[in-house]
Amino acid sequence: MAEKSFDVIVIGAGPGGYVCAIRAAQLGLSVACVEMRETLGGTCLNVGCIPSKALLQSSEKFAEAGHALADHGVRVDGVSLDLARMQARKGEVVKANVDGVAFLFRKNKVTWLKGKGRIAAPGRVEVAGETYAAKHIVIATGSESVPLPGVEIDERTVVTSTGGLALDRVPGHLVVIGGGYIGLELGSVWRRLGAKVTVVEFLDRIVPTMDGEVAKQFQRILAKQGLVFRLGTKVTGARKGDEGVTLTVESAKGGKAEEIVADVVLVAIGRRAYTEGLGLAEVGVQLDERGRVKTTNGFATSVPGIWAIGDVIAGPMLAHKAEDEGVALAETLAGQHPHVNYEAIPGVVYTWPEVASVGATEEELKSRGVAYKAGRFPFSANGRARAMGETDGFVKILADAATDRLLGAHILGPDAGTLIAELALAIEFGASSEDVARTSHAHPSLNEAVKEAALAAHGKPLHL
Ligand code: FAD
Ligand code: NAI
Repeated sequence: MAEKSFDVIVIGAGPGGYVCAIRAAQLGLSVACVEMRETLGGTCLNVGCIPSKALLQSSEKFAEAGHALADHGVRVDGVSLDLARMQARKGEVVKANVDGVAFLFRKNKVTWLKGKGRIAAPGRVEVAGETYAAKHIVIATGSESVPLPGVEIDERTVVTSTGGLALDRVPGHLVVIGGGYIGLELGSVWRRLGAKVTVVEFLDRIVPTMDGEVAKQFQRILAKQGLVFRLGTKVTGARKGDEGVTLTVESAKGGKAEEIVADVVLVAIGRRAYTEGLGLAEVGVQLDERGRVKTTNGFATSVPGIWAIGDVIAGPMLAHKAEDEGVALAETLAGQHPHVNYEAIPGVVYTWPEVASVGATEEELKSRGVAYKAGRFPFSANGRARAMGETDGFVKILADAATDRLLGAHILGPDAGTLIAELALAIEFGASSEDVARTSHAHPSLNEAVKEAALAAHGKPLHL
């Protein structure tokens, strides 16, 4: 029998791969997508973005019922935790999302090839003993968590985010290694549910990719919520015993070792590209020094007809970045000329308050020698934030000193992840801080803090 042939075979059905497959099919190409998980949606839908946001939402409600509602005059007595239900709800949310992708595959006539894919040769993909032909092969195999030497993962007492999302008991003491996105989101979840949480971070600051001023205030707010920070500290070993895990830590600069005893340890020190078993070396697809698939602009690898997108290539490891690349590549394969603007990709840490960022940080502008002006506005001066009882944080806008063009925006505060969207759009459109300041913003809304920060950058805020 002749082998089955497609215009495009995408390997991996995460937000990069499944979106690329759907868009390519919408543009009239015949498409298959290889996925080895039982369900579609990749890391993001199964063990990443979606389940973590479900638990963040649920734990936030628990914390509100326990502490915050009383201040609003709402008395809730006898609040208790049903963790099994909370976890079951998380499972339902994940199922609705992964089933949704399967539905979209059927609707758009994308064939799901179930199993682990290997590139047998340019134009040939092998899955579950069958070989399929393709004009174009897309590598969208994503990433996995980086292991820490000397700290062996068992996903029960020493966990990655995957185990950290699935705990069936609130740990007495959770030690998080890494003060980045995962450490702070999952640390917040388990702190709200009652765990003592210690964050051990190698650097002398948390969220190293975010603006430094924002990170400092963010850390202070998290500390008020009860998270304990051990900055400038490295973990040198872990010993499992009946009483949990004993970690040996020392100052990042060296010095005397000390021990921290934890019930559960979450290792969250970053993620790395996943290309295991794909056969890349055999077909000549080159990797960079960090094991990521090397691409030239437009997602071409070193082998003609083989392309790559998402976490497996360079750039921020974010679902929407993978999606944007998936769409752009599908359009390229259909003969169009799309473009991804890497200057306008927002990043959001979904703690409470949230932290959101788009464009350059103040540190980046300084190191590039760009002359800029900064405008800031605190939520404590915003009427809506006061009405909500959510006055922590501020908006910071960075604009070119000469042209007033927006270069970066950083928000720490309520719903920062939603508020950042208007600034991503503004950067995409090449807007100035004056453009944002002169745009009508509904009153009373949190967005008015964005307008006021823009006013502060180009002139004077009204309400400060
Ligand atoms: P992935 O989603 O990793 O998908 C790759 C898929 O390829 C996987 O399903 C894998 O099984 C499959 N695969 C790999 N090799 C093969 C093979 N040889 N054959 C067949 N299938 C294969 N990002 C955000 O933007 N917002 C968030 O809120 C957010 N939260 C996160 C929370 C956590 C806990 C984690 C871990 C990540 C989070 N991320 C978030 C990051 C986000 O999940 C990733 O950036 C995104 O999933 C990358 O998409 P991708 O398509 O490149 O790869
Ligand atoms: P991260 O890169 O965000 O943070 C890792 C942290 O660990 C850094 O602060 C780093 O300095 C620190 N670190 C590194 N080595 C260390 C060591 N040996 N000891 C102590 N600290 C160490 O990585 P994280 O949190 O694992 O998440 C991986 C990626 O997944 C994120 O970078 C992000 O791209 C994505 N993600 C996105 C989310 C979102 O968009 N809301 C949520 C969760 C993950």
